[in-house]
Order: sequence, then C-alpha cells, then structure tokens
Amino acid sequence: MIKKILLPALVLLTAAFTAKEPQPLYKNKNAPVESRVQDLLRRMTLQEKVLQLSQSYAGNNNNENNKDENIKAIPDGIGSLIYFGSDPVFRNKIQKKAVESSRLGIPIIFGYDVIHGYRTLYPVAIAQACSFNTDLAARAAAVAAKESKLSGIDWTFSPMIDVARDPRWGRVMEGYGEDPYTNARFAVASVQGYQGNRLSDPYSIAACLKHYVGYGLSEGGRDYHYADVSPQSLWETYMPPYLAGVKAGAATIMSGFNDISGIPASANHYTLTEVLKNRWGFKGFVVSDWGSVEQLMNQGVAASRAEAGQKALMAGVDMDMTDRVYQENLAQLVTDKKVPLSRVDDAVKSILRIKFQLGLFEHPYTTVLPESERYLQPEGKAVAGQLAEESMVLLKNLNQTLPVKNTIKQIALIGPMANNREDITGSWSAQGRSKDAETIMEGLQYEFGSNTHFNYAKGADFDGTDESGFKEAVAAAQASDVIILCLGEKRAWTGENTSRSVIELPAIQEKLAETLKATGKPLVLVLNNGRPLGLAKLEPLADAIVEMWQPGLAGGTPLAGILSGRINPNGKLAITFPFTTGQIPIYYDMRQSARPNSGLYQDIPTTPLYWFGYGLSYTTYQYSNIKLSAPGITKNQKLIAEVEVSNTGNMAGKETVLWYITDPAASISRPLKELKYFEKKQIEAGKKSIYHFEIDPMRDLSFPDAGGHLHLEAGEFYLYAGSQKIKFSLK
Ligand code: NOJ
Repeated sequence: MIKKILLPALVLLTAAFTAKEPQPLYKNKNAPVESRVQDLLRRMTLQEKVLQLSQSYAGNNNNENNKDENIKAIPDGIGSLIYFGSDPVFRNKIQKKAVESSRLGIPIIFGYDVIHGYRTLYPVAIAQACSFNTDLAARAAAVAAKESKLSGIDWTFSPMIDVARDPRWGRVMEGYGEDPYTNARFAVASVQGYQGNRLSDPYSIAACLKHYVGYGLSEGGRDYHYADVSPQSLWETYMPPYLAGVKAGAATIMSGFNDISGIPASANHYTLTEVLKNRWGFKGFVVSDWGSVEQLMNQGVAASRAEAGQKALMAGVDMDMTDRVYQENLAQLVTDKKVPLSRVDDAVKSILRIKFQLGLFEHPYTTVLPESERYLQPEGKAVAGQLAEESMVLLKNLNQTLPVKNTIKQIALIGPMANNREDITGSWSAQGRSKDAETIMEGLQYEFGSNTHFNYAKGADFDGTDESGFKEAVAAAQASDVIILCLGEKRAWTGENTSRSVIELPAIQEKLAETLKATGKPLVLVLNNGRPLGLAKLEPLADAIVEMWQPGLAGGTPLAGILSGRINPNGKLAITFPFTTGQIPIYYDMRQSARPNSGLYQDIPTTPLYWFGYGLSYTTYQYSNIKLSAPGITKNQKLIAEVEVSNTGNMAGKETVLWYITDPAASISRPLKELKYFEKKQIEAGKKSIYHFEIDPMRDLSFPDAGGHLHLEAGEFYLYAGSQKIKFSLK
C-alpha cells in the first residue's frame, strides 16, 4: 500500500527535477524590454535589488598573480563596477562570475571615465568646443566608444556639460565652455557618438551626462564647494544642456557633488525627481558621483550614512557610486519602512532597463582582440588630428608674424611645452599613453623639414624660480629669426580637484617671455592649457599667439601646420579669457548694467582680453546682406534668416557663423545677447557662402521663468551675425 502511494509521488518529484524549466521571460531576447524588466524584478530578493543599486570598482591591480584575488574581492551580485583596467580577458572573468555563478545571472555594467578618448586621446572638451564642429566631436566619441567597448567598458562617465564661467575651477577643461547652447549642442553630439543608433549596437556604450546640476558654479572656483544657483540661472544657464542631452537619449546621468543653494545635488528631489524624471520623462538611471551619497553628511544634510542613503535614494539617485552606503543600509531602511520598497524597485528597474537595452544579457562578454586591432587605428588618429586642428585658436597676429615665412631657416623653439610628451595630452587621459603623443617639436621638424634648423632650449620649467636655463634660451633666440615660445599648464593643473587662485601663468614663465622679448626677435607664443589664462603680461610681449589647448595625441602636426601656413586656423573661443583673475566672473551673455558706461574697474580694463567667439584666421571674412524672410512673425510662424559671408583674403578657410539674439525689453531682464545657432563651413578664397538660420519662436525667443516654464512675449528682437544686425518683431 505504502509502495503504491510513494511510487507515483517519487516519479512526479523526479520529473520536476529533471524537466527543463522553461526559459524565464527575462532571458528571452525577443520579449519587450519592459516585460523582461518586470519579470526579473519579481524574481529578485531585497538583497539582490540593493546590490544592483551599488557600484564598486575593479581592475586597478594589474599584477597577474593577484587578479583572481581581485575577482574574489568584488561583492557577489554587484550591479556595476568602475573598471580601471583595460584587459578584456580579466573583465570577462569578472563578468563570468556574475553571469554564471549568481542566482539570476544578472550581468555587471562596467563604467569608466572616457572623457576625451580611451587610448586615442582627443583634445580636451573645452578645446573641442572651440572647433564648433559637433560632427567631428561625435565622430571622436564614436571612436572612443569602440576602443572602450573592446576593452570591456559598457558605459562612460561623459559628457560633462556643466556650463563653466570661473576658470579658477580646474574642471573647465572637461566641459564645453561658458555658453548653455554650445554645451547643449556638444551634449547631443557626444551622446550620439557614444551611443550610436542603438545602445545594443556592437560598439555603442552608454553615455552619462554630468554633473547634474550647477557644479560649474562652485564658489570661488573651489572644487566640491557650495554653489549658489538662483532658480533663474538654474533654468536659463545650467539646465538647457541637460535637457538637450536627455532629449538626445542619454542613458544615464550623474548627480553632482555640489550643494545647490542649500540642497546638495545628490539629495535634490526637485532636480532629480520632479524635473528629470517626472517633467522630462527620463527613463535611464541616475548614478551618484564618487562618494557623493556619503558626503551628504559633510554637507550637513544627513546625520548618518543610513540617513544619507535614504535621502539620496528618495531624492532620485538610483545607483550609489563606490561608498557602499546603499549596500550597507538600504535593506534595513526598507525593513524599517524608512524607504518604500516601491522606490527601490523603481531604481532597480531603471538600471535593468539600461542593461537590457545595452544587450548585456545576450552579449555579456567583450570580444577579445589584440591591442594592435583595438587602439590607435588610422581613422581614430585622423579624427584626433582634425579635431585638434579645428580647436586651436589664433589669438593674435601682429604684422602677419604668422605664418612663419618660408625664407626663415633658423627657428628658436623654447619653453617647457616645446618638447613635452606628458602634459600635452591633458587631464583625464583614460588609457592614453604619453608615448603615443606627438610633441610640438616633432610636429615642427616634420612640417618644416631638414632645411629649417630648430634651436631648442627648454628655458625654464612650468613653475619654480630656477632661471639657470634662460641663458641657453637667449642664445637660441639670438641665433634664430623667430622665437616659438611654448608655455602653459601641466596637465595635472586642470581637471578634478585642481582649483587655482590665479589664472595667470607662474611668474617664471612670464619672466622667460620678457627675457626673450628683449632679444628683439619676433615672438610667437604657443599656449598649452586647460583653462582660460590671464594673459595681461604675456600678450603685449607676443607678436602672435596660438591657443593650442591640450590637444591629446595628435597636436604637434596641426600646430605646425598652422605655424607654417599649411592650415588656416579656424577655432573660436568657447570661453572668455578675462583680462586678469580679478575680472572673474565675466562671460558674453551677462545682463546689461544699469549704467553701461559706468561702474568700471579703476585699475584694469572692464572688458576681457578675448571674448567668447573670438578667433583670427589667415584670411579675411566679410559679412553682408543679412536678411529675414519677413519683418515680423507670429508665435506659430518660423522666420528664415540668412547672411552672406565672403572670403576676401587669399586663403581658403572654415568660418563659423555664430547667430545671436537679443531681446532688449521683456518682463524680466534678458542677457545682452544669447547664442542660438552656429554653423561652420568651408569658403574658398574669393568665394562667398550663404549661411541660414531658421528661427523657431518658442525655442529661440522664449525665456524660462524661475520654475523653468517658458514664456514667449511679443515685442522687438535683434539678430546678429558677425558685424551684421537686423531687427524683427514677434506679434
Ligand atoms: C569623480 C568625478 O567628479 C566624476 O566626474 C567621475 O566620473 C567619477 N569621479 C568617477 O571617476
């Protein structure tokens, strides 16, 4: 009898164990992403969910013998890792553990700071902005994405689109300058470049807009500090690039370190949830900045790590970068009902959604190729060179000192940057290697060939007081017909945590320039830096000045091309160069003063040395015939503007037309002028080109109020392009 009952039960039980469990829905690549997300979420334990919201790091230990140890140290079930290594094999090993040994097999998303290239380094972002060539920037981002992907990176913490108006802040080099519209255009270009057509494409990586929001306003340029962001400037200046990046489909966004007028960015429910998620409908995920959850205690809004975690999560931060606050506190916070499970679930969903969209469940592993096939491919290097060329800005050219005449056979090449492979690459150089970088000297020697002799002397270091090299530098200058003096900043002087109290170069560099000027030889100053510099002392000493920025790997050749005249410089400043540090803040779209010709500085000029948009060329352009399709429009109509630009010089060139609009009288004061569109085109010598701009009233003539709601008011407006100006009305 017993045997009769037991046997069928045993058979059933065995069948249950041996029958193949149907594939869970979340593993079905053909199911819609949202169904997969829901299916996976309902299978997850609270602890598994908390780990998905946590990010740790791996890969900084390159010792072969320790690599497995390193894998063991990675918390089981972690949602994301910052991967400092570049070895795809090691990365795949870590991923294998997540995919094959964890209960649900959720792949890790590997992130990294790919800021201006991965191994092929491009010019730093502030330089890229000066190219006003968003197509090139997008192509550079696409190459960076491919190199990253082939090294195991699924996600870059880039672009940084913090509008920056204080060059004392070291992070100005990471963004696209002082103008909201320029930052917005480059935000879109980089998102498109990194993410390609689809996140699941083989060489796409997820982008991350950072650092949301107002970080560029850190008081006094001191990094990580309080930022007093008025609601009006939040909406007018700091939000537009983020909205553009979100509209372009950025997969993730990073909450900043900064305090936004009393509510830190990583605990700010208004910016993160009310605006980003609810108003803008952002469906990706928010990652904190490194430790910015824990730092809520330093900022005085949380008394414990648990409270910091609660505040950040409830504000809208989905993933906690590296400080383990979520990992150690969230489960308890849920149990104690201090955080609703529904909020944890939302955060988990936002992360899983991106992992599914990236195709990580189907393709968790990186294709392993030899380094020679991964990096520094000809196409990437060509983009790097082109972008470097277009981002350099000719700031001064007295008596046509440049191009260097081809009759000149002796050139003095002097300065700490002249033969420097380290600092030319710029900060945040990811997996870039200085050995891949071209120096200024190499570029020049190749360009000018063996008929030209370079008398090289370093002259002085970037800082310090050692003048012992001056003598050699003077001798080099005396033996030459022209001096190329290469000054600037070490790469570690800009980037994160590199604030400076003055933007002038150290006195030793200025003194070297003065000493060389005394030789009476024409002096060409080449600047390599990551922030606007105070050039009040240096500018009068130089006959010509080229701002080369930090061009990455391929700067020597384009600089040499500009100096020789093979290349016509075409970059324009995307950030104003103050006359001295004391002018900060100064930017082109300031509000009008109550007494425009009064209230001036008594000791220095009140205008900057070079405004936003400034940049010279070897040819001349004449702007004429600005026209509008109608003298006025209604709110639902579009207005087409055009302007004629003639190349009246002898050399073909690329000219960027910057279209500005002014609203002289409105219900709230408006900036002196606002950039609304730009376009760059090649114009042959003696030829002309017509540039167009379609004015969309809601986009181009409205302004936000302190709540971010747009207002479009009837009235008169002015449109500017170069020297041209035209009035129109909105009814
Ligand atoms: C801190 C920086 O502020 C941020 O820009 C970067 O992405 C993270 N660290 C990760 O390295």
